[in-house]
Amino acid sequence: MKHFLQFRDFTKDEFEYLFERTRLIKALFKSYTIYHPLKDRMLAMVFEKQSTRTRVSFEAGIHQLGGSSINLTTGETQLGRGEPIEDVARVISRMVDLVMIRTFDQSIIERFAAYSRVPVINGLTNQFHPCQILADVFTYIEHRGDIAGKTVAWIGDGNNMCSTWLQAAAIFDFQLHVASPEGYGINESLISETEKPHLTLFADPMEASRNADLVTTDVWTSMGFEAETDERKRDFADFQVDAEMMAVARPDALFMHCLPAHRGEEVSAEVLEGAQSVVWDEAENRLHAQKALMEYLILGQVAQN
Ligand code: CP
Ligand code: NVA
Repeated sequence: MKHFLQFRDFTKDEFEYLFERTRLIKALFKSYTIYHPLKDRMLAMVFEKQSTRTRVSFEAGIHQLGGSSINLTTGETQLGRGEPIEDVARVISRMVDLVMIRTFDQSIIERFAAYSRVPVINGLTNQFHPCQILADVFTYIEHRGDIAGKTVAWIGDGNNMCSTWLQAAAIFDFQLHVASPEGYGINESLISETEKPHLTLFADPMEASRNADLVTTDVWTSMGFEAETDERKRDFADFQVDAEMMAVARPDALFMHCLPAHRGEEVSAEVLEGAQSVVWDEAENRLHAQKALMEYLILGQVAQN
């Protein structure tokens, strides 16, 4: 049994298989072809933080594969009254086939997985967001081909998205440039030896973006850090991805943002809505990539249709 708790839980070969399945599953969806490999299977989604894309893509995805889902939130379950995560894991995983969790610390999802009888997917923690990077790397390849040897510029908070991009950089062999305000850098305790050669830190976001193939950013204040919002607005003021910053990247550079976006903060409206932006494709590809992921976690590698 496999879990997807961090991006580095899968090998490059597994991602290549998943991307092949994603392309096929997406084509089936676009041609209105019914594909129900997960008939009667049940996905439990546990949300301890808010969500739009993750909720809709997993719920629509499992339904489109022939299964169904249950949505559980902290406030409406015994989790909110302090039931231990180990107990919740043992109970839920006896009743469903797959669990997706969005929560705070990575240790919560690891404890859940340690007690789960079924595969567990990380739907975002404070440390990682592997499902988003799965969709993002797929989206890059869809638009530009192989990502190996390319440069991805991460501008802003050294958060869960940034740490997950670095795991992807080591697996797919590309370079990650990171420019963050002082005190908001990538979490060094999460970086492995194999990932270090793929990371370059910059003080100046313009230098990080120079000649990049992909420029990407995220909110200045992630979920769980709302108390720091005002301070962060001041500290991140020079880290907006705008047209000037895109202009120093390669002419065919893409812009990505996992969304939700704050126009006029981490990205200008012009860039978000501009010709280089692929943010809506990224969001759509969450659906297709996660369908491939759910199929793989439940059925393993299947013969190509
Ligand atoms: N990008 C992303 O995970 O969005 P949601 O928070 O809306 O799920
Ligand atoms: N870094 C953001 C991503 C939201 C999808 C957060 O954790 O809130």
